[in-house]
Amino acid sequence: MPDVRKPDLEGGESAAMAYFSESQARAIIRETYSALDAAVSAVASALYTADDLARLPQSAVDLALGVGDPVRHAALQPGETVLDLGCGAGIDTLLAALAVGPEGRVIGLDMTPEMLQRARANVARLGLGQVDLREGLIEQIPLPDASVDVVIANGVLSLSTRQSRALAEMARVLRPGGRVALADLVLCEGLPESVLRSPAAFAG
Ligand SMILES: C[S@@+](CC[C@H](N)C(=O)[O-])C[C@H]1O[C@@H](n2cnc3c(N)ncnc32)[C@H](O)[C@@H]1O
Repeated sequence: MPDVRKPDLEGGESAAMAYFSESQARAIIRETYSALDAAVSAVASALYTADDLARLPQSAVDLALGVGDPVRHAALQPGETVLDLGCGAGIDTLLAALAVGPEGRVIGLDMTPEMLQRARANVARLGLGQVDLREGLIEQIPLPDASVDVVIANGVLSLSTRQSRALAEMARVLRPGGRVALADLVLCEGLPESVLRSPAAFAG
């Protein structure tokens, strides 16, 4: 069990962050997501349309780990540049790449090398040259200011140790008039401390 930090939720950070330091949270995330290999396709069929799933490799569908379908709400246009934060095995990266087409560009960013390897294999299966996968943190996006049209994120903001920093980074990389489509968990009431202290509950 990691050190327990006293709850201090100032600064717009998540409830679990009161209990895990930044390095502890990142270690939990890396350990959890690098080890994933089980098929969880029930998640995808509950979130995405059957038509969209039929366009994707099963290996991407099986590792859909998000909580929504941000691409459906992003109104992506051919030729746009999209940034997928916490892209995981790439389900939304792939859907975004199909929507923006070969003239567009999709950057998938994730801190877990094993998830990026899975995303790379999925991108290769569809032969999508417009996808660029990068290792990095959503709190320190490795892109210039005003360089993307749309940011999408599915199930990653709630894992951030510094959500306000991640939001500021999204604003920094978006071009004027840019759009954000976020899908994430929203806490409507307090959770028991036993849940907040649980690394497994935090990592999802
Ligand atoms: C719940 S999964 C969602 C993956 C993907 N968006 C999807 O819908 O399948 C969260 C992903 O975010 C990544 N992640 C978590 N915290 C991150 C951070 N601070 N910076 C970058 N990636 C992060 C994890 O490695 C994991 O691949």
